Amino acid sequence: MRFGHFDDEAREYVIATPRTPYPWINYLGTEEFFSLISHTGGGYCFYRDARFRRLLRYRYNNSPTDVGGRAFYIRDGDDVWSPAWMPIKPKLDSFECRHGLGTTKIRGSRNGVTAEMFYLVPLGETAEVCRLTLTNDSKTPKALKVFSFVEFCLWNAWDDQTNFQRNFSTGEVEVEGSTIYHVTEYRERRNHYAVFGVNAPIAGFDTDRETFIGLYNGLHEPEVVLTGSPRNSTASGWAPIGSHCLEVSIAPGEGRDFVFVLGYVENPVDDKWEKPGEVNKEPARALMSRFSDSAQVEAAVAKLRDYWSSLLGTYVLESPDERLNRMVNTWNPYQCMVTFNQSRSASYFESGIGRGMGFRDSNQDLLGFVHLIPERARQRILDIAATQFSDGSAYHQYQPLTKRGNHDIGSGFNDDPLWLIVGVAAYIKETGDFEILSEEVPFDNDEANTASLFEHLRRSFHFTLENLGPHGLPLIGRADWNDCLNLNCFSETPDEPYQTTANREGRTAESVFIAGQFVYTASDYAALADHMGFTEEATAAREHAASMKEAILEHGWDGDWFLRAYDFFGHKVGSHECEDGQIFIEPQGFCVMAGVGVEDGKALRALDSVAERLATPYGIVLNQPAYSGYHVELGEISSYPPGYKENAGIFCHNNPWVMIAETRVGRGDRAFDYYKRIAPAYLEEISEIHRTEPYVYSQMVAGRDAVREGEAKNSWLTGTAAWNYVAIAHHMLGVRPELDGLRVSPRIGAEVPSFSVTRKCRGAVYRIRVVNSLAHDEPRLVVDGTAIEGTLVSYAAAGATVDVECET
Ligand code: BGC
Repeated sequence: MRFGHFDDEAREYVIATPRTPYPWINYLGTEEFFSLISHTGGGYCFYRDARFRRLLRYRYNNSPTDVGGRAFYIRDGDDVWSPAWMPIKPKLDSFECRHGLGTTKIRGSRNGVTAEMFYLVPLGETAEVCRLTLTNDSKTPKALKVFSFVEFCLWNAWDDQTNFQRNFSTGEVEVEGSTIYHVTEYRERRNHYAVFGVNAPIAGFDTDRETFIGLYNGLHEPEVVLTGSPRNSTASGWAPIGSHCLEVSIAPGEGRDFVFVLGYVENPVDDKWEKPGEVNKEPARALMSRFSDSAQVEAAVAKLRDYWSSLLGTYVLESPDERLNRMVNTWNPYQCMVTFNQSRSASYFESGIGRGMGFRDSNQDLLGFVHLIPERARQRILDIAATQFSDGSAYHQYQPLTKRGNHDIGSGFNDDPLWLIVGVAAYIKETGDFEILSEEVPFDNDEANTASLFEHLRRSFHFTLENLGPHGLPLIGRADWNDCLNLNCFSETPDEPYQTTANREGRTAESVFIAGQFVYTASDYAALADHMGFTEEATAAREHAASMKEAILEHGWDGDWFLRAYDFFGHKVGSHECEDGQIFIEPQGFCVMAGVGVEDGKALRALDSVAERLATPYGIVLNQPAYSGYHVELGEISSYPPGYKENAGIFCHNNPWVMIAETRVGRGDRAFDYYKRIAPAYLEEISEIHRTEPYVYSQMVAGRDAVREGEAKNSWLTGTAAWNYVAIAHHMLGVRPELDGLRVSPRIGAEVPSFSVTRKCRGAVYRIRVVNSLAHDEPRLVVDGTAIEGTLVSYAAAGATVDVECET
């Protein structure tokens, strides 16, 4: 069942009812200020860091779900309603929400009044702007009262939800004209405040939550709105809010626009005060004046549209499959940009206080956005690398505000270092910027201890080699890609986290996944070493990769598939010898992607085992059989009920590894089949089962062992976005940058008989037309009228346009 539809022209998803199976959200903001906004206006915003600089309070896991954050109320005579449906949930005459690229438009109407809220975070601004348009569709004049509402978070979102003995006494506000200032803690160490203003005179305001709502009332029955009279309350401690009251008269058939601005303002530390005790409001006034009328909002919208059109113009697909087009051209890269900005910090499933930026996550996310914003990818790489330790290991996470490694979680995830090579190689393939390898980058953010970025990569590579186990396979440490496979943890205490608890000392637990990842990474690493003139290092790297390949084939092959690991005791994990957890997806995908077993048929065999044992209509599950009970020697993976998360859930992040592996062995049709099973645009019709947004990937879909098979969770912030993009754009459609040229080598089945891709790369434009006749073993290319050998199109000079005809 569908709850809306795609408007491909406008690049929007149009939600037709407020009663979606879960709140369907969007992200506003591109650089420093971000908002999460659901189709009924729920959510919050923050400046740079969802934990430390949160402007709005939002209650996770609430019932009813998704109330709070921001709202509008309309009083039309005695009738009180909320145009975004929440929080009052009135009967609306019409409702529509359009989530677009960095914009969200929510429209509701009732009794002849239509209210449209158009939200965006304009480029270059640290503010959420909302243009409210009220129209009187009735035949009689309307005299309305409109109440805005936001609830302020006291900045530090964790503290805000826990430290009540302090917080209930710190809240402070100032009001000047139509502008409300949230200035809690400004008197002491903060030099920032929030501002909430509207471009029209107000009839009153409220800033104290209890006064506005009533202590025993809910947001659906705020006392001030019910009585129709603002109280001009001044918050002092407790819960500061911002609410304006506007009196609006509208003639029949007419409309009125108002612009609300909710912004973050920072003052120079020595220029904090206007006069003693009054904050310096100059930057806020300037911000308000930039959005004092609708024309200014329109101009900001136009700029934002241009920004997105230009970004998404980097890779444009035209194919007969409209669902494929909308994934590749709009929604998948859009999600990749969101994961670039948020990593795993703030979504409707990530509270914004738990996790900062993941080391491995951010490197993988880069694969999906590097072609869109290479300059920012460059900075991201340098930031990530600066959190690496000098022995090559890495903090598992870092905080976006400070860019420092997160001590709480520490290091010890032995796949982390290798992802840096993957990220850097992707960046250089895209840009040709080999210079980055010579950048001096600190270890653990210590400016006194720096080395070139290439040296960081060298330490990453050698970290694996210095940490091999009894079978010559890499030691797993706390976990590898699968955070929940904790082979050294042995946790029997419910209150300790699996990822950080003291591990048992031992150098036995090994990961076949990291082994495959090492081989996969080694060829790029060796090519980069060659480029730097480190020929011996390059040769050695290739030799190490060859030995690792042998170790996998000798000790990591189980007969019909690749093993997953050896545990602390040297027992096999992911073997037919095991009772549960006989086969895992990760090593099948990664080893084949690395080319292991391709020559001798093992790769095909492993992928066939995936098809036989792991593939389901909703995607490929992580392992089978699911663990039916807790295994202390395996850790968190066996803590989940069967079918959920890492215990036999469909972990969408690793499905594309199998898709890429299938293209590696020439089975594009299978790859595309797997692709369609999890790509959200293809799941729109089953939204009542899938539940999360039909325009973005979710991290996990419940697997076949689960009670709620097919139900997705953790939408938006997942490595799934980047890897699925890589799988479809680079491997199935087959257009990908390599160090020495643009590879054009489609492997997509007969379902897509022809297509074209326009790809911008290194300043040139490649117009690629593919006839997917599947008549040849290797695709045949004609470049600017001349047939070439192989499938690598040399890079053209910046400004050039290259025509490529490809027949498969
Ligand atoms: C983490 C990833 C991890 C994956 C599998 C995600 O929640 O962000 O880093 O690879 O889970 O455990």
